[in-house]
Amino acid sequence: MPEINGCRICNSEELHLVLDYGMMPLVNNLNDGEEPETYPLKLVLCPDCGLVQITETVPPEKLFSEYYYFSSQSQTMLEHSKKLVKELSKNLDKYSLVIEIASNDGYLLQYYDVPVLGIEPASNVAEVAIKKAIPTLVEFFSVDLANELRSQGVLADVVHAHNVLAHVADLHGFVEGMKLILKPEGLIVIEVPYLRNLIDGCEFDTVYHEHLCYFSIRPLVKLFKLHGLEIVDLQTLKIHGGSLRLYVKHETDYGNFTERADEVKDKLRELLFRLKKEGKRIVAYGAAAKGNVLLKYCGIDSEIIDYVVDSTPAKQGKYMPGLGLRIYHPEKLKEVKPDYILILAWNFADEIMEKESWFGGGFIIPNPLRIC
Ligand code: TMP
Ligand code: ZN
Repeated sequence: MPEINGCRICNSEELHLVLDYGMMPLVNNLNDGEEPETYPLKLVLCPDCGLVQITETVPPEKLFSEYYYFSSQSQTMLEHSKKLVKELSKNLDKYSLVIEIASNDGYLLQYYDVPVLGIEPASNVAEVAIKKAIPTLVEFFSVDLANELRSQGVLADVVHAHNVLAHVADLHGFVEGMKLILKPEGLIVIEVPYLRNLIDGCEFDTVYHEHLCYFSIRPLVKLFKLHGLEIVDLQTLKIHGGSLRLYVKHETDYGNFTERADEVKDKLRELLFRLKKEGKRIVAYGAAAKGNVLLKYCGIDSEIIDYVVDSTPAKQGKYMPGLGLRIYHPEKLKEVKPDYILILAWNFADEIMEKESWFGGGFIIPNPLRIC
């Protein structure tokens, strides 16, 4: 029975014993009463990356080919899934694709009304999903399968991997595979039991051969980083004695930030200079710090903008530094009426347009540039 030589994430060979369970049978393989095979069960911590894991890897075929865990058996699980699908569906339509790895009996995918694809190696469980007309590949997920899907143009807007990461012996292959089937703006949603809850609640009985890893945030950040992925959000959940839900995306590309900033600048300058040339009067709304940065970066000053208004009494009568723009009470808009109002405090654009709804001219919002 293969025993690991090093940490399942970082390969560090120095693993510290947390709890030795002695020899254990495969506890999910219910049998007819015969003497089962047993395997060592030892929980260890990698002090380098923080991953808690067991040292033995029972071949997955022994654990998952015939499986007695049907996710739909739990009403809690169904409601939990339905709620998540409702939330994620807001950003999906009929052109989207949702892939779930370890889709079990379709307990989650059944709630989507956009195209879905399940991947589930336990044939008896997958059968249930297929009977419910949920397209399901009866296979273990791997880099090879991911490459095959990718080559067929099968790329997902959402990839679900719930309560499966802890089961996976080849963590790096699995995570690389998820990256391969994810669209550039796609979202991976992962749920894993949270190590903190296991330790705090002394839930030592949730350790068995199916669960190779016991996750906390630090090792997960490292794992995803190694594959060009990053955690963009996370939640703690009550399910399964305490879980983590991670939202993961392709790593942010900072490479073209200058080009993108300059695109905002060019578009804004083009518009304002054109309006000015047409003889339009333009004022700015909200003497916010970011407004100063925007105008400075774009090279727009009192040549283009007549004045600024802001509802903050302490700002009125002052000047925006380096721009030669004096700040007035918003009442000024009625006295010296402009044709356009450039909203610098764009974070409050809706509130400002609501407040100044009497204004007949155009509101310009700088990024993305639009006239309302
Ligand atoms: P901030 O984005 O840094 O919070 O700055 C917003 C600025 O906009 C602040 O100076 C207050 C001003 N403001 C108005 O003048 N009118 C408004 O209705 C709102 C919401 C903000
Ligand atoms: Zn490690």
